[in-house]
Amino acid sequence: MDGGFVPGWKVVERKVGGRPSTCRRRRVPRPVIVRKAGEDIDDGGWKYIDLMERQKDDKPGSALWLGGRYFQRELAGIFSQVFDTAKGVFGFKTRPVLAHQLGLKLDNDMVRERERVREEKTPLYSNSPLPSRIIYSTVCWFLDAAYHERPIARFWFLETVARMPYFAYLSVLHLYETFGWWHVSELRKIHFAEDWNELHHLLIMESLGGDSVWSDRFLASHAALIYYWVLVLTYFLSPSMSYNFSELLENHAVDTYGEFIDENEEQLKTLPAPDVARQYYENGDLYLFDTFQTAVPLATRRPKCDDLYDVFCNIFRDEQEHVKTMEACSDYTKLGIFIQSPHQRFYQGLKAEVKAEVKAEVKAEVKAEVKEEEKEEEKQGEERETQTKPPALMRDERQKFEDGMGL
Ligand SMILES: [Fe+2]
Ligand SMILES: [Fe+2]
Repeated sequence: MDGGFVPGWKVVERKVGGRPSTCRRRRVPRPVIVRKAGEDIDDGGWKYIDLMERQKDDKPGSALWLGGRYFQRELAGIFSQVFDTAKGVFGFKTRPVLAHQLGLKLDNDMVRERERVREEKTPLYSNSPLPSRIIYSTVCWFLDAAYHERPIARFWFLETVARMPYFAYLSVLHLYETFGWWHVSELRKIHFAEDWNELHHLLIMESLGGDSVWSDRFLASHAALIYYWVLVLTYFLSPSMSYNFSELLENHAVDTYGEFIDENEEQLKTLPAPDVARQYYENGDLYLFDTFQTAVPLATRRPKCDDLYDVFCNIFRDEQEHVKTMEACSDYTKLGIFIQSPHQRFYQGLKAEVKAEVKAEVKAEVKAEVKEEEKEEEKQGEERETQTKPPALMRDERQKFEDGMGL
């Protein structure tokens, strides 16, 4: 699967560390990344997949042309996988896969244990309708079986499927708006922001080589297609049930990423953050990022992205936000409590006293966050300042925000 088009990406060719003869003696800022993933990496050198390379010189075309091109590529993927499998069967050395090279692991039993503990504290699965429980259990069983000891491929599958609820909700809400049955553009905005966020999770996994095996791509795209239509129908019949199922799946993502981070902390801290992650979390337009933070004040979540550990922690936090949003959406279907993005909450529809309350809350939280950042920076020293967004800049932005809000 190709990376989606993300306007404004900065292509940075980083020649760093590792063993290739061309850069062995250069002074380089970071370790490991050296060569295009999947190409001649037997000497131990590798680099993340360059997503911009994939879409270079690409342009829109008819469905026939795009489909034909895709089929051609996938056919090559089938042959490549069959060839590699045969080599493995006959004891020959197979082509190394980037996702394996990273040396990351995930214990399925520990993920299940986390789910069990969470369920004990806040029962969700046991209170869900029977069809949701059956589908959810089947999906979890499939993930454990098909992606055993392949966490990056598992995440790539999960992120491909995780976008489908938002596609489905957007499709149905568009239809309702077109027919004039229901106008809820704010809800559409939140779902689009979540979709944009899931897209970047997916692109991060692609840059780590999560989609490099043809059978994984085949399974994910077909599962996603089926899941999309199931969700469209479910949303037609019962938005509440649909949101409930998404909440189950988002919780599963939280548990899986949480376990993965704990198990691989040391290794992740040695690996650099992919460009797409840095672009999204540090340099991108954060309007949509703020939009799906329904449980925190506006512009208060500004995650760092120094290494792969930070990246996975950010994804973990994003998934937690998705759970909260799905919870809020479920409440909306049951209680009619309108769900709003932080932008909407601040600027529209609030009574003066509520507005003042929210402003005070924001002010306190912003101050606390800045203090925390300052402490953190003192600990980390000057080393990181060259690679991260300067904290002073973040404070300036917050100051601007506070000034704009009249805080
Ligand atoms: Fe995700
Ligand atoms: Fe998610």
